[in-house]
This record gives sequence, C-alpha cells and structure tokens, in this order.
Amino acid sequence: MSDAPIIAKKEPVPIDVVEGKTYFWCACGRSAKQPFCDGSHKDTDFEPLKYTAESNKKVFFCCCKHSQKAPLCDGSHSKI
Ligand code: FES
Repeated sequence: MSDAPIIAKKEPVPIDVVEGKTYFWCACGRSAKQPFCDGSHKDTDFEPLKYTAESNKKVFFCCCKHSQKAPLCDGSHSKI
C-alpha cells in the first residue's frame, strides 16, 4: 500500500475534451496512459477521479498528481 502519488510528469497534458464525455483521471501516478487511469492503482489506496466535460474545450490535466484542483492543473508542478 502506498499513500503518496507518483509524479508522472512535471507538466500537465492538454486534452481536447468532448461535452458530456466522462474521463477517469489517474490519481496514483502509476498509469502508463497518463493522464488517465489504466488500472495500475490496484495495489494502492488510490482511486481514479471521474471528470465529466461540461463543453468541448481544451483542458490541462494534472500529471504531477499534486494539484489542489485535480484532475486539472493548478500550477503545483512548479513547486515540487
Ligand atoms: Fe492511477 Fe488508476 S492507474 S488511479
């Protein structure tokens, strides 16, 4: 078991999300399909975070896993 997320990358990933579509953001940092969950959190205390897009737009998903506005980037990667 682990209580700290892995820093997958110290920069966000821009994704063009689709209105009404649901995405599962990787909270543990272990997924090989960043920024999304691939099931690698299985042996950790982490669960993916569900995000449903409100409109068609580009959003920046957090990859350092330290954002206070998860699943989106809040700039925290520059402080870790
Ligand atoms: Fe990280 Fe699922 S692989 S939350």
